[in-house]
Amino acid sequence: MVDFFHEANELFEYTRSMRRDFHRHPELGYHEFRTAGIVARELTSLGMEVTTGVGKTGVVGLLEGSKPGPTLLIRFDMDALPIVEETGAEYASENTGVMHACGHDAHTSIGLTVARLLNTHKEDINGRVKFMFQPAEEGLGGAEGMIKDGILENPRPDYALSLHVWNNKPLGWLGISKGYIMAAAEEFYVVIKGKGGHGAIPNLAVDPVVASAQIISALQSVVSRNVPPVETAVLSVTAIHGGDAFNVIPPQVEFRGTIRTFKPEVRAVVLERFQQINQGIAASLGCQAEIQLIPSTPALFNADAVTEKVQQIARLAPGVQIDTTFSTMGSEDMAFVMDRIPGCYFMVGSANQETGKNAPHHHPKFDIDEASLPIAAGLMASSAVNILNNGI
Ligand code: NI
Repeated sequence: MVDFFHEANELFEYTRSMRRDFHRHPELGYHEFRTAGIVARELTSLGMEVTTGVGKTGVVGLLEGSKPGPTLLIRFDMDALPIVEETGAEYASENTGVMHACGHDAHTSIGLTVARLLNTHKEDINGRVKFMFQPAEEGLGGAEGMIKDGILENPRPDYALSLHVWNNKPLGWLGISKGYIMAAAEEFYVVIKGKGGHGAIPNLAVDPVVASAQIISALQSVVSRNVPPVETAVLSVTAIHGGDAFNVIPPQVEFRGTIRTFKPEVRAVVLERFQQINQGIAASLGCQAEIQLIPSTPALFNADAVTEKVQQIARLAPGVQIDTTFSTMGSEDMAFVMDRIPGCYFMVGSANQETGKNAPHHHPKFDIDEASLPIAAGLMASSAVNILNNGI
């Protein structure tokens, strides 16, 4: 079998220069015109069939192996964040106010490297690889847009792979777990409506501040009292607004936040209790609760058989530690793909404390140890061939 880890190291200069170029020129979701242009150019130069404008700014490349076989989708996201970069790196953002602070610049360059690696060995590949370069992962629905535009049809992928560089863990760490690894996420917006009045005459008002305080306290019981102790959920109220004077009871209070769950049955319990607590307490205190629950992403589930294939390959990688228990309550829109196609999403440790490249994701000082790039590309290319040629 080809040593893709070795070959990815040989392409390191290419991967790093692409990554630094994307880092210098970050683009927000659905504005990845320059990035998508470079991706399309690079894939076309390899002789791939390339489609642009998929889900607005997404790019799809199809790499045909020499023998018949299954179709594997590999997904990389391309968008940046509205953050003013403070890394001071020589390759820092030249687009002030926009920054690759999640590592999607790394993902795009890893994707292009994987395309090169697999293209070199396409004579030895069964089936085909569908490259999905996705826009707008950061809460803007990029994956759904590409699904609507047909990424999962003609040909329909049999399996899917994706990855994320992970700065919460050091270089050399690989998170490859079966089962739920990222959460289903919902946003909520609640308006507690009472009746405004004088702060000194509360008996003539209906106070939404007191009702909101009790609701938010009671919501803490959902995870502690309603979710089975061996399961996982998060319910965070992250913003609250109401009133603006010391002597006025406001007519309403608004609060918002997020709910995260893994299993559908836990999600159902949390959402039901969320509604009951809001409505019940509001009503008992003479208020009304207007609740808006907006589903954001489903939970991300790693299929056993596909994940075992990736774990198998990771054990061949030099100098890595494999964590098979990793999961996070973060969310990821690759879940829309993996809801439909069995796959594996793995994390590649990218932090380096000694060089100060260990700021968390979405931080103005976020930067990665670029030695993570060939590990990621080697593992992805090698896993792809393992799945296509050896079956699941
Ligand atoms: Ni990200």
